[in-house]
Amino acid sequence: MNAKLAVLFLALTIGTAMPVLLGFREVWDIALPNYHTGYQPDQPIPYSHRLHAGYLNIDCQYCHTAADQSRHAGVPNLQTCMNCHTTVLGRTTESKDRIAKVKEAFDSGKGVAWSRVHNNPDFAYFNHMTHVRIAKNGQGFDCQECHGQMQNEGVANQKEIMSMGWCINCHRTWNDEYKKQGWKPAAPLNCDACHR
Ligand code: HEC
Ligand code: HEC
Ligand code: HEC
Ligand code: HEC
Ligand code: HEC
Repeated sequence: MNAKLAVLFLALTIGTAMPVLLGFREVWDIALPNYHTGYQPDQPIPYSHRLHAGYLNIDCQYCHTAADQSRHAGVPNLQTCMNCHTTVLGRTTESKDRIAKVKEAFDSGKGVAWSRVHNNPDFAYFNHMTHVRIAKNGQGFDCQECHGQMQNEGVANQKEIMSMGWCINCHRTWNDEYKKQGWKPAAPLNCDACHR
């Protein structure tokens, strides 16, 4: 086969296979290994979202300050915790112990080595700012749209599959919605938008 033909053959194969693959989210879900739905690593301190974001109703972005400004939402440094825990020392023995650990980590300057919960591969580009601030014509998505009801959770865990099919399904849905609202569809489906 000459080179031109080979390229054409390849293009045709990929061209027919891709829509099929992309059409069936399940195919991607089976084909790719790195899914972590429900993944809940142990943490050095069992920090509770239920207590802080639920019961105390602290805004997600009080701690994850970068979510609407940059690619990564970020995990707070201990100074943020010490805003309260210099004076809030805990009532039960258990919470006193845990809060003492936070203070110790802060005073020593070592910080806490939180285990990562979400870990999408680097070759897939995802940007929080776009989704939290710019999408839906400036209204943005709530964190819960992708992270579930984190304010009801004890130790953080991953709620959604976060596969390529998951991204693309939502992009399709919202492009339709954009059209209905008379906006320009803005959620990309082309490979190089997410694989740069
Ligand atoms: C008082 C601070 C604080 C607040 C408020 C808070 N978080 Fe967190 N969050 C943390 C800390 C500390 C971690 C890292 C430890 C862990 O994973 O449990 C974390 C971890 C996470 C993770 C997992 C990060 C990873 O490693 O992949 C997600 C997702 C998350 N938070 C979402 C939220 C959402 C959504 C809200 C609001 C409903 C929220 N957080 C409110 C402090 C906070
Ligand atoms: C706005 C105030 C506030 C901030 C900010 C805050 N906390 Fe708390 N935290 C509290 C309160 C109030 C309690 C309940 C203490 C009690 O009465 O026992 C608490 C309890 C705790 C406990 C003990 C509860 C348990 O699970 O046993 C830990 C551990 C803790 N916080 C860690 C953190 C960490 C880590 C951060 C920073 C990421 C943080 N807190 C930020 C107010 C705060
Ligand atoms: C809840 C729905 C939803 C999910 C889930 C979602 N997106 Fe999006 N995404 C959107 C919307 C809506 C836009 C259009 C934003 C605008 O109006 O500019 C967008 C825009 C983008 C853009 C173009 C803007 C930019 O940041 O460069 C990229 C790239 C992108 N998404 C990647 C991803 C990836 C990767 C995932 C999965 C890990 C993902 N998205 C999951 C709704 C979603
Ligand atoms: C459109 C879906 C979507 C929305 C909305 C969203 N996230 Fe995420 N978030 C993701 C994805 C996908 C990852 C994994 C990215 C990675 O591993 O690179 C992630 C990872 C994280 C992480 C850990 C890694 C990092 O980027 O720092 C934290 C913390 C987090 N999100 C917090 C939040 C908070 C807080 C909000 C709301 C202000 C929010 N997210 C809104 C999809 C979303
Ligand atoms: C909206 C964002 C988005 C678009 C558009 C997109 N991808 Fe992906 N892709 C991802 C994410 C996120 C992952 C990583 C999660 C996973 O493994 O499914 C991924 C993973 C992959 C992988 C898997 C690598 C592996 O084995 O883990 C391949 C291959 C791939 N994409 C090819 C493509 C091709 C070809 C296109 C265009 C037809 C495309 N992608 C369009 C977001 C996207």
